Amino acid sequence: MTLVAPSILSADFAAMGAAVKAADEAGADWMHLDVMDGHFVPNLTFGPMFVKALRPTTAKPLDVHLMITEPARYLARFAEAGADCISWHIEAQDRPADVLKAFSAFPKIKKGVAIKPATPLAPIKGLLAVLDFVVVMSVEPGFGGQKFMADMMPKVAELKKLRSDLGLDYLIEIDGGIDEQTAPVAIAAGVDVLVAGTAVFGRPNYKAAIAALRAA
Ligand code: DX5
Ligand code: ZN
Repeated sequence: MTLVAPSILSADFAAMGAAVKAADEAGADWMHLDVMDGHFVPNLTFGPMFVKALRPTTAKPLDVHLMITEPARYLARFAEAGADCISWHIEAQDRPADVLKAFSAFPKIKKGVAIKPATPLAPIKGLLAVLDFVVVMSVEPGFGGQKFMADMMPKVAELKKLRSDLGLDYLIEIDGGIDEQTAPVAIAAGVDVLVAGTAVFGRPNYKAAIAALRAA
């Protein structure tokens, strides 16, 4: 079954606790939290204090997407704040071994790697065996509301094939431009987790919005 992970980037930051609760009650599977540092991406959002503040508002997994340089340096703070899943960008300069070492203190947290549209799979192939999920960006990271890049679907299909060829079990998450029209394209390519900001929090009825994505 396809999981739906609403991205709070498109929600009301002045009433975020209520927005997360509403998305939870509307049937969200995971909550997607976009952390941006103004260096790795040209936008700034929030840090671990905000993740910690949101933790008591839902029992659903908090899926923290780190769009920051030096992910190894900050990973523990997000883990301690209550993240359940953390993805970091392979392009973010840190040596993957350093990030994996930071994860080792938090064995329950699901490990994910995110890749920008221009990044091929080659740099993450050696990591797949230790990953719980892979985030394929279908927009340039940094902002919500961008157009879905359908040309990322071969990457999704290749990840699916590699998973079965190698006997692995990571989930494939797609992030960017997902709505009722694009979700079926992503699912057909092999996606397991749909991130959707605008297509959930930009709609008047979260329950109908999540149901429409799931039905795709
Ligand atoms: C973009 C973020 C996405 C964003 C998706 O950098 O990683 O999670 O919130 O927003 P939509 O669904 O509006 O494309
Ligand atoms: Zn994201």
